[in-house]
Amino acid sequence: MGRLAGKVIIVTGALGGIGRADAALFAREGARLVLTDISAKGAEELLASLGTEAVFLQHDVASEDDWARVVAAAEERFGRVDGLVNNAGLMVLGNVVQTSLAEWRRVMSVNLDGVFLGCRAVLPALERSGGGSIVNISSIAAMHGMPFVAAYCASKGGVRSLTKAVAVQCRQSKNGVRCNSVHPDGVKTPMVVKVATGQESATRAEIEALAGGSDRFCEPEDIAATVLFLLSDESRYLNGAEIMVDNAAVVTGPG
Ligand SMILES: NC(=O)c1ccc[n+]([C@@H]2O[C@H](COP(=O)([O-])OP(=O)(O)OC[C@H]3O[C@@H](n4cnc5c(N)ncnc54)[C@H](O)[C@@H]3O)[C@@H](O)[C@H]2O)c1
Repeated sequence: MGRLAGKVIIVTGALGGIGRADAALFAREGARLVLTDISAKGAEELLASLGTEAVFLQHDVASEDDWARVVAAAEERFGRVDGLVNNAGLMVLGNVVQTSLAEWRRVMSVNLDGVFLGCRAVLPALERSGGGSIVNISSIAAMHGMPFVAAYCASKGGVRSLTKAVAVQCRQSKNGVRCNSVHPDGVKTPMVVKVATGQESATRAEIEALAGGSDRFCEPEDIAATVLFLLSDESRYLNGAEIMVDNAAVVTGPG
């Protein structure tokens, strides 16, 4: 039996590098999936590749109305929700002086408002299912000062702290829901290429050319495996935890 057998999982940013790896792994482990992204380009092909019951919904994580629609559709289709992966995100380059207020707000609206709205919209649905797991994708940028992506650092720090507030709320209310954060260093996804070159999408060869050979970068499947553990009942006593997937980058420190 799969490690997510019978569970209904919502994954945001499902058409990106980590989101696709999540979808493929969770499908193999028996989950039924509600996959969402801001654009629907490539969604049909993704659904066809999965071999599990899955739906795709176009969804802006920064929109409160969109979240209400996603939860309603998930419950209507599957009758329950057992897990949420707040994975959608974006990065804008710039230190604190270079970042415009509009860029700051764009990053915050997707990376932090999106996670807040997701937790707020999906938590009651998880409670209706008798419990569940929320996994928020943060970054080691929540722990490190990275001046070249100041807004991104602040947004991911917010995700780290919000996760703990949600976790304690769940512990206190004994609702059976857990909330944990995952903190990758570099992952070989289109985001890496977008940041380095400004390109909107990237081939596997372009990603490898930028990230390959550096011990900072893992595969999207490495993140998916960690998220799978947090969604599964194997992690039933993890709540408010932060898991770094970074080959010891944070504990190594400078130098
Ligand atoms: N790639 C890395 O090195 C790395 C490192 C640490 C953390 N992360 C985090 O992992 C998560 C996934 O990133 P990825 O590397 O797969 O990047 P990616 O660019 O491949 O995927 C991100 C996805 O989010 C979607 N998205 C963007 N704005 C959205 C919105 N408003 N509503 C809904 N969807 C939206 C994009 O369309 C895209 O499909 C992000 O939260 C990112 O910050 C990535």
